[in-house]
Amino acid sequence: MKQGYEKYIPFQPVALPDRQWPDKIIEKAPIWCSVDLRDGNQALVNPMNLEEKLAFFQTLVDIGFKEIEVGFPSASETEYEILRTLIDRRLIPDDVTIQVLVQARPHLIHKTFEAIRGAKNVIIHFYNSTSTLQRKVVFHTDMQGVIDIAVEGARLIRQLTEEEAARSGANIRYEYSPESFSGTEIDNAVLICQKVIEELGATPEKKVILNLPNTVEMATPNCYADQVEYFCRHLPGRDCAIVSIHPHNDRGTATAATELGLMAGADRVEGTLFGNGERTGNADIMNVAMNMYSQGVDPKLDFSNLKEIREMYERCTEMKVGERHPYAGELVFTAFSGSHQDAIKKGLDYQREHDSEYWEIPYLPLDPADVGRAYEPIIRINSQSGKGGAAFIMQQNFGYDMPKAMHPEFGAVVKAACDAAGRELQPQEVFDLFQKEYLDVCEPYALKSYKLYEENHVGQDTQVHFEGNLYFQGQGHTVSGVGNGPIDAFFKALQTVGITDYTFQSYHEHAVSQGADSQAISYIQLRTPQGGIVFGVGIDPNISLASIKGIVCAINRAEAQKK
Ligand code: KIV
Ligand code: ZN
Repeated sequence: MKQGYEKYIPFQPVALPDRQWPDKIIEKAPIWCSVDLRDGNQALVNPMNLEEKLAFFQTLVDIGFKEIEVGFPSASETEYEILRTLIDRRLIPDDVTIQVLVQARPHLIHKTFEAIRGAKNVIIHFYNSTSTLQRKVVFHTDMQGVIDIAVEGARLIRQLTEEEAARSGANIRYEYSPESFSGTEIDNAVLICQKVIEELGATPEKKVILNLPNTVEMATPNCYADQVEYFCRHLPGRDCAIVSIHPHNDRGTATAATELGLMAGADRVEGTLFGNGERTGNADIMNVAMNMYSQGVDPKLDFSNLKEIREMYERCTEMKVGERHPYAGELVFTAFSGSHQDAIKKGLDYQREHDSEYWEIPYLPLDPADVGRAYEPIIRINSQSGKGGAAFIMQQNFGYDMPKAMHPEFGAVVKAACDAAGRELQPQEVFDLFQKEYLDVCEPYALKSYKLYEENHVGQDTQVHFEGNLYFQGQGHTVSGVGNGPIDAFFKALQTVGITDYTFQSYHEHAVSQGADSQAISYIQLRTPQGGIVFGVGIDPNISLASIKGIVCAINRAEAQKK
């Protein structure tokens, strides 16, 4: 045998030079069929028990699936029992069709019909493998032998369906899969499906589902799309069929294969939540549906509580959804990079200020709220975060809206703390840094008491008087000053004890609610004697006192920086 990559045979694509699918756009949801309880379940280390399958089934119904493959009842007693429980406990809503899988073999088909008794809407899904490789190494038969198996299966299924429908009035439909469709010569795949739908008496009113499994993903997704388009264009009686696709993910491109397959003419998609399934799994229906959703197309499936869906999935399957799994992973709404954080903040500000109808936020293709996620975890703070990241956390989590000019100063404080800790900081830790840096500074100056009052004389501007006790150098000092406002009056008072070096630059204030109390927060910017800029923050129910506290804080910080 050849060695290494040379032992692999490259896939031979279908010749379709006039392919139409590249110009198509997905504009509506396909018919979805969940195969979680069959293809997904059969690939679990510990297959789901009855209670888990029932919980999973209920979630699929809640999401909005109208077709659900519930198992392979002729293959195992457990699967038989689960199907009977769903039917006997009347757990299947009238608008949901259950699908059961069976090989095209007579004794299994008979057992399947026993299992579905009492169900209102059923799809009997039968299959046999048609691929070139399996004919050669597994079945040792030619294409005619494979067609005979499928056609005989179809004949028996049609007969048993007609008997059951006459007996119970059940609505039974048919699905046929040429298993390993993508590994089958395309004209053979068309031929066997044509024979099957003829045998089943398909009409445009009574369509048969023809499911085209990419049982093992063998090539780039465009090759699968070519196969699907070729099939749709060459199948005699295309209007008597619902063309379904069933991609697997061996090359990691099942989502792309599904999307290109839809562009190529498929009407229906089979897949699983989070792509569970044999080997690398099946197509991830949540991923495909949310891709549509984020393109403005209603997927007709509801993933607004994706977190709960994920929890149910992880509990029942004992599988884990990866942290970067599209839409569902723990980290998919988290921006670590500073430039991303700044852009997200600007996008959210723009959205709010312009009351925009559309979601246009850089780096966030989906509004996290649409899948039940909150905004809080969007930005996490590490040493790569930009100056806007810490400000964003303070605004989003604690309602502190720092002036823009202050972002670099506090950003540097947070970055230094991240570097020192060698890890990412949680929002509460960012708050604690803010508290320590701005709110807990009471040296060398501490305001012990104060009085502010206005003096009004007719025809003159209002004068504000400040009187207070400022503690420094180990003792209290009485200070007083008069100005045209509280800030001016306080500066004048400071001058009386020799604090003359600081000049007021700007202030910014807003209300901040903490519990039941609404407080005012004031951000004060001063120029230092050395010509630098320093910020101080004051919080108080009284807006004037908040500003005065902010001035004391700024001076204290500047004094500390001198040391
Ligand atoms: O992947 C596959 O080919 C299947 C068939 C049984 C439909 O799951
Ligand atoms: Zn499969």
